[in-house]
Amino acid sequence: YDAGFGGLDILRGIVSVLPQLNYVYLGDTARVPYGPRKWKEIYEFTKQAVDFLFAHDCELIILACNTASSVSLRKIQQEYLPKYPGKRVLGVLRPSVEEAVMVTKNKRVGVIGTEATINSNVFKVELQKLNPKIEVFQRACPLLVPLVESGEQDSLKSKTVLKKYLAPLLREEIDTLILGCTHYGILEKHLKKIVGPKVEIISEARIVPQKLKDYLIRHQEIEAKIQKMGEIVFYSTDLNGKFEELGGKFFGKKIKALKATLG
Ligand code: DGL
Repeated sequence: YDAGFGGLDILRGIVSVLPQLNYVYLGDTARVPYGPRKWKEIYEFTKQAVDFLFAHDCELIILACNTASSVSLRKIQQEYLPKYPGKRVLGVLRPSVEEAVMVTKNKRVGVIGTEATINSNVFKVELQKLNPKIEVFQRACPLLVPLVESGEQDSLKSKTVLKKYLAPLLREEIDTLILGCTHYGILEKHLKKIVGPKVEIISEARIVPQKLKDYLIRHQEIEAKIQKMGEIVFYSTDLNGKFEELGGKFFGKKIKALKATLG
């Protein structure tokens, strides 16, 4: 589940390591971006998505959205999940945090994400929980999701905006940069050019799939319940053709979507 297309980049990686499983993807494209919204609203939307996916026979939901994960994951797990005994909901922050802690040498880590993600401070808290010596430099990048959702990720405007957002983090001499939004994976090649070879980029699309595979090995009781016909069904809350056209770029191949109604 993601607010839009970003989670498709994660799904692509997951399908490549776990091709046999059945998947349901839900993009809430009618209400993207989530980043500037109030936490209460993001939590409500996340609950609706969880209801939708469990109603579609999912056993395990990945909130492939840092905004939903930062704001809602803990509350969903503690207060909402008891409604669904035996089912699981996981987020995407923890895998990148663990990776960044391993990768950084100078203990200066940059994080970029949506306003809601950065304001939640969850990345900083989680990084410093694993290593209190790590200094965290965060930057909200509110223009990036709308640029990506409108297919402008390779435009001059995107590159200029990226440079502006990254400048203060580079001045802090970070050696590791967490892409704290699943929409940013598609910008990685431009980001790499800006940050240069000395900064390691942590992209969730590369890390989350292996972590999920490990999780399912540890939790055989969940793995056993997931259907295994290698089928993927895509749902979007706004079927105007854009989801299929741009979503295919994130997923790496053509997709056909069904309309989802939430709430
Ligand atoms: N892809 C999302 C994230 O990882 C959602 C961004 C948004 O809707 O603002 O945060």
